[in-house]
Amino acid sequence: MSKRIFISGASSGIGEYLAYAYAGRGATIGLAARREELLNKVAQKSNELGGAAHVFQVDTKDQIACKSAAEEFMAQAGGVDMVIANAGIGGHDDLMSGDATAINNIIETNVIGVTNTLMPFIPAMKEQKSGVLVNVSSIASFLRIAYHGGYAGAKVNIRLMADSWRLTLSRYNIQVTTICPGFIKTPMTAELKGMPFLLPVETAVEKIVSAIDRGKKTFVFPWQMKIMIPLLRVMPDGLLRMFGN
Ligand SMILES: NC(=O)c1ccc[n+]([C@@H]2O[C@H](COP(=O)([O-])OP(=O)(O)OC[C@H]3O[C@@H](n4cnc5c(N)ncnc54)[C@H](OP(=O)(O)O)[C@@H]3O)[C@@H](O)[C@H]2O)c1
Repeated sequence: MSKRIFISGASSGIGEYLAYAYAGRGATIGLAARREELLNKVAQKSNELGGAAHVFQVDTKDQIACKSAAEEFMAQAGGVDMVIANAGIGGHDDLMSGDATAINNIIETNVIGVTNTLMPFIPAMKEQKSGVLVNVSSIASFLRIAYHGGYAGAKVNIRLMADSWRLTLSRYNIQVTTICPGFIKTPMTAELKGMPFLLPVETAVEKIVSAIDRGKKTFVFPWQMKIMIPLLRVMPDGLLRMFGN
């Protein structure tokens, strides 16, 4: 039977290409994000690739809207097999502004947006004793990064939350996978400079899909960035500060 997969942040970047990858496998896909026009284009291409796409214009910070979208998707698709909480934003902490608006938005989108997306599907997965929950964290979750403490902290939060959830959910045959990408060429990184081991989004998505298929708990890639984590963790603050964007 073809899979029923709900993807947040499907209007661009990694989420968009995940939609195409699963559409190619004939999946029924829920595409969620705020920009409906882009979602409709992704839906059209997904359908051409052999999928059956349903569009949900949702701000993942809105708990009620996420719950409604989840219920509507499960009704339309006849259930759910996998949810990928991929929607996220980067951004500067704005530490000197005296105003927490920017950092709060980053934390809310990257943490509350993930719980809002995943939680509504868990009862159905528990009932059917199967399912896959995926959260898209980052290599940033292992590092301290100048000007991006809100982002790094949020990505640690969802990685650790997933590790904790797994202890409970594995009893119901629910897989919990955390994806920790390094630099991927998407609209999010379009303005950044000096990105080591940058991967095309298509390559990144191939690796992500394969990691999910293999039931990985935490998938950190590319390998060159993965092996640099222990070095970057012990790097003196003065040196690390130079990498801030
Ligand atoms: N690119 C990288 O190098 C990289 C590295 C590590 C981790 N990641 C993570 O990968 C994920 C995808 O990022 P990307 O690189 O593909 O960036 P992207 O192209 O900017 O895509 C981000 C997606 O998230 C959606 N989104 C953002 N805020 C949202 C909200 N409040 N409600 C609903 N949807 C929202 C955006 O759609 P709308 O604007 O239409 O809502 C868009 O579809 C993110 O979680 C990011 O942190 C990326």
